[in-house]
Amino acid sequence: MPKFEIRPPTLEDAAAFIDYLRALHQNVDHPGVIPRSEFPSEDVQREWITKYTVGDGFCLLVLSGERIVGCAELTRGRGAHRMHCASLGVSLLKEARGQGYGTRLIEMLHEWARGQTGLERIQLEVFHTNPGAIRLYERFGYVHEGRRVGAMKRYGESIDMIQMSMPIVGTQSDTTGHHG
Ligand SMILES: CC(C)(COP(=O)(O)OP(=O)(O)OC[C@H]1O[C@@H](n2cnc3c(N)ncnc32)[C@H](O)[C@@H]1OP(=O)(O)O)[C@@H](O)C(=O)NCCC(=O)NCCS
Repeated sequence: MPKFEIRPPTLEDAAAFIDYLRALHQNVDHPGVIPRSEFPSEDVQREWITKYTVGDGFCLLVLSGERIVGCAELTRGRGAHRMHCASLGVSLLKEARGQGYGTRLIEMLHEWARGQTGLERIQLEVFHTNPGAIRLYERFGYVHEGRRVGAMKRYGESIDMIQMSMPIVGTQSDTTGHHG
């Protein structure tokens, strides 16, 4: 029986989500997390959640009771020239790592992506100092595409952002007028 529940967020999760961000960014015990001292208001967080309830993407929370211990999201590109892309993000608190939840979340995001009309590509960026996450993405078939050298700082250390992507075979948009 799984230890944590996985479900999409609702607007009622806004306050718990801010608590999650505080816990994630104040306990910086993983190379994939940077320290952060400013957090969104509940209104801003509700707006963020709304994107995923109106179909601009798909978000999943990992919960221990009422407490959020993880989150993963795919955000669809805006505008006709970017709609074929979705950006992936995933994070878990320490207590939820190394138990397959990251893998499960990405599988569920991919499942959603395959049902999306016109979606062709999933892209992400990951710190070069985060080999565990890079391995996880490689296992799914993400390929290295580029590197933004020194694009981020973590405790004064320059971090390169590794750009990765994979094609996704979603539902094709029907431009021919043929059906069936
Ligand atoms: C990166 C991250 C999302 C990975 O999620 P995760 O749940 O820890 O990943 P998984 O458990 O699915 O897989 C990670 C490892 O655990 C192992 N694992 C999987 N199931 C397991 C289980 N039941 N018991 C023990 N280990 C397990 C996997 O083999 C894998 O090992 P490896 O990477 O050393 O080869 C998570 O560590 C995290 O949130 N890190 C902080 C934020 C971050 O780095 N996000 C990515 C930014 S791009």
